[in-house]
Order: sequence, then C-alpha cells, then structure tokens
Amino acid sequence: MSEPLVPPIVPCASFRFRDTAEVLRAMEGEDFLYSRLNNPTVVGVEEELAELIGAERTLLFGSGMAAISTALIALLEERPLLVVQEQVYGATWQLTREILPRLGVEIVTFPSDGWEETFQALAGRDVGVVYAESPTNPGLEITDLRRLAAAAHELGARLLVDNTFASPALQRPLELGADVELHSATKYLGGHHDLLAGVVAGQKDVLELVFKHRTILGGILDPFQAFLLQRGLKTLVLRVERQAATALALAEWLEGQAGVAQVLYPGLSGHRGHEIAREQMEAFGGVLSFVHEGGEAGARRFSESLEVISIAASLGGTETLVTLPSTTTHLRLSPEERAAAGIPPGLVRLAVGLEDPALLQADLARALG
Ligand SMILES: Cc1ncc(COP(=O)(O)O)c(C=O)c1O
Repeated sequence: MSEPLVPPIVPCASFRFRDTAEVLRAMEGEDFLYSRLNNPTVVGVEEELAELIGAERTLLFGSGMAAISTALIALLEERPLLVVQEQVYGATWQLTREILPRLGVEIVTFPSDGWEETFQALAGRDVGVVYAESPTNPGLEITDLRRLAAAAHELGARLLVDNTFASPALQRPLELGADVELHSATKYLGGHHDLLAGVVAGQKDVLELVFKHRTILGGILDPFQAFLLQRGLKTLVLRVERQAATALALAEWLEGQAGVAQVLYPGLSGHRGHEIAREQMEAFGGVLSFVHEGGEAGARRFSESLEVISIAASLGGTETLVTLPSTTTHLRLSPEERAAAGIPPGLVRLAVGLEDPALLQADLARALG
C-alpha cells in the first residue's frame, strides 16, 4: 500500500480503545491517549526536529515562551537557583525576574562577557540552571557557549541555551556542551510568520522531566501548527543561509551610513564577540541591530519611513521586519532596566527576510535619508 508523501494531520483530542488493556498500555506511554500528552502529528515533527538538532529527544510547545517556561519550571524544581544572562528576550526577562522569584526561585544574573567572577562567587551553591541566549535579542551579544557549559557543569548545574537567533542551521549548542536547547520555532524553524511554536531539545532523561510538566501545564503544540512547522523545516537551511548573507551585507553597508551611530552584528570584525561567533557559528544569523543617531525619535521616524520593510514584532520569516525593542519586546522595562538589558535609546532591530538585498538596501537608504 502506498503512503502519503507528506504525513497527515491528526486533529484529534482523544483516541479510542478496544479494551482496558489497550488503555493501560497508552497510560504507560506506549500509545496515544489524549493530545495534551501526545499526538501523532506532533510526535512526527518532534522526531524530525531531534534529527535536525542532533538531540536524543525534542518536545514541541504552543509557543517559544511555553517551551521556555515549562523547561525552567521543570528543571528548577529540585534546585531553585537560576543563574541567568542579563540580556535575554523581553518575556524571558519578565519570567525570570518577576514570575519565577514569586514562585520561590532565587535569581543571579551574569553579563554575556566577563561572567567568570559571578560564577566564582557561586562556588558551593546549589545552582539548578544556567540560562543563556547567544546571539541575544536584541543586542546581538555573543557568549562563549563551550566555556559557559564547562562553568555551569562545574557548579553542578544544567546549561539551557535559547538558540532561536542562530537556529540549528547555524549553531549547535548541544555539541558545544549545553544540556538543553530551546527555540521559539515561531521564528526561523517555522520561517513564514504564520505559526507560533516552541521547542525543548536535549537528552532523554532531562526531556522526560520536561515532558511530565508539559502534560500537566498543557503547553503542547496543536497538530495544525505542527504540520505548518514541518513544512517550514524543509527549507530551513536554504532560508537561513540567504538571510545571514543578506544581513552581513546590510550590516557592512550600514556601518558607513550617516545617521547610524553603531551597528550591532556579530559578523562585523569590530563586534566584541566576533571571534567567538566565528568559532561557534556557521554564519552570523539574519538579525542585526543598529543605534540611530537621532535617538528614540530618530529611530521612530526611520522605521515609519520604510516602504519595503514592515514594522512588525517578530523575526526569522520570509519578509524583512523592523522593530524598536523599546516599543515592543522591552516596552515594560524601566529606562534603567532597558539600559541593563543592553538597549540604548534609538536601538533599531532588523530581521532580514528573503527579498532582493538591493531592494532592502535601497529602502534603508531612503529611510535614513
Ligand atoms: C530569543 C527569543 N526567545 C524566545 C521568544 C519567545 O517566543 P514565542 O514568541 O514563540 O513565544 C522570542 C520571541 O521573539 C525570542 O526572540
């Protein structure tokens, strides 16, 4: 019998059994029971992702934040001490600075660069999780993941890395020593600005803990979104290669432009993390940020003058988007907190899509003028 070339969607909440023995088998995890626990479409995409990432197992969630929050809750349960990077995505910042402390988690922060002192001071403490992003959103800071993994393990902690900005096509944190790799699959993995999803990837024993929490917290991805994600994965490498090449060309061009105070992109030789990025990444990703000389007002005028590039709050899709982090991801932070998170006034984030690079450069030139 032939089979469908593209796996079907199984949009079903519950599964039917012939007898109690079958129910009990499903309760042992050997079959499907109820789609908050597992679903055939979702499991199929999880298996594909595990291969792509090079993980023993992956779990899919309804959003990146569902993945991150479930992983942190699961892995901080035994040892509720979290050591987290200063610069992280806005909602992760709020989760780790506001929600988790209210649940009894102690938080210590560290900078992307020069974190050794913080780690030395933690010697002897019962650290559960070290959490990092590289490159960071939106400051494009780079952390040496191999060294960070060694330092985390010395403390007896697990290292969790949000690899959303690089995607598995450009960076492989598990091979660099991380215990868990996280993604907002809404971005490069999905790739078309048409779905929300999140990924937790790692070894089976760690993922089993996360799985148990996912079944209770209920953050599993739905089968329709899983189907869309699977479609996006087919072109991941091609898309990301092109986006990274365009981003590098635009970053180099932007550096010389009037109105641009500073360009933040790890592919530039003047970037503080350039050498480390060259070692741990295949290319430098499709997102770049720059500081507009006109501050907040200049950045707003610039973004509102763009015609090809849309003002929108995401990244990793086929269309190029511009975001002012101070008005979106980091709006709820105070000016001091924003400065600590590496967001100067006038910061503009560009998430490069698949358009003709010349068209994008012309749009940027017009808006800067
Ligand atoms: C680096 C990073 N991590 C996590 C998230 C959260 O993902 P989601 O919006 O899919 O919940 C985002 C979203 O922008 C992000 O940029």
